[in-house]
This record gives sequence, structure tokens and C-alpha cells, in this order.
Amino acid sequence: MTSFEELYREAVKAREMSYCPYSGFAVGAALLAENGKVYTGCNIENAAYSPSLCAERTAFAKAISEGVHEFRAIAVAGGEAGREPDKQCTPCGVCRQVMTEFCDPDSFKILLGTTECKKAFSLRELLPEAFDK
Ligand code: THU
Repeated sequence: MTSFEELYREAVKAREMSYCPYSGFAVGAALLAENGKVYTGCNIENAAYSPSLCAERTAFAKAISEGVHEFRAIAVAGGEAGREPDKQCTPCGVCRQVMTEFCDPDSFKILLGTTECKKAFSLRELLPEAFDK
């Protein structure tokens, strides 16, 4: 059973793979599926900017492309590349919408934090009155 603490550590590790030459802001995400597997992701930027992918959506793409559609939680760690995250990195609106497609608004937990302090939110808290299926 993966604890929130372990999931956050996986997000911090995934962050090392961040490709962020344009923003210098490195993000890692660790997505825990119902089947117990963890799918990690990092942000992947692009010279044309708009094709850039957030860490959260990279993790969702990896899971969904392997046929996994049920999720329990995601941990996100982000901040200036090369430094420890000192503020919580909250998912952007597009990522919240992608989570809404696949995750239960009340039971799915979004774990944000820094090395010292972590906080869990429900998806409903981060995207109230969501447009969903
Ligand atoms: N970013 C993420 O990967 N996830 C977030 O939760 C917030 C922002 C990325 C997008 C871009 O590559 C960089 O962080 C700066 O916005």
C-alpha cells in the first residue's frame, strides 16, 4: 500500500526527468492507480510553447495508454529546477479538467506540498462545479 509520503517521494524523483529549458520550473507527478501501480510523469516543454505537457498529464497519458482508467491519488512536486520545492505546486486548470474525466471528485486525492509540509485536496475542492461527462 503506497502512502501519501511515498507517493510524494515518487513525484520528487520523477521531477528529476523534467525537460523545462524555457520556464526553468521543474515538476514531477506520481499517479496512484486503483490497481496499486504508480505512474510517474514530468513536465515536457517545447520551443513552440503550446505543445508543452504538464507532469500530471504525462502521468495520466502513461496510465491510460496502458489501459488503466481508475485512480486513487496523485502527488505533485514542483519548483525552480535544481532546488527543492519550497511551495506547493497546484495543478493547472487543464490538468484539473483531465483529472475530472477519469477521477471521482470526492475520493480522488491530490497531494501537494513541499519536503516539510503536505496537504491533500479532493478534486471537487480544486475544480468545483466541473464540466464532466
Ligand atoms: N507545470 C506542471 O507540469 N504542472 C503543474 O501543476 C503546474 C505547471 C509545468 C508547465 C510548465 O512546463 C512549467 O510547469 C511552468 O509553468
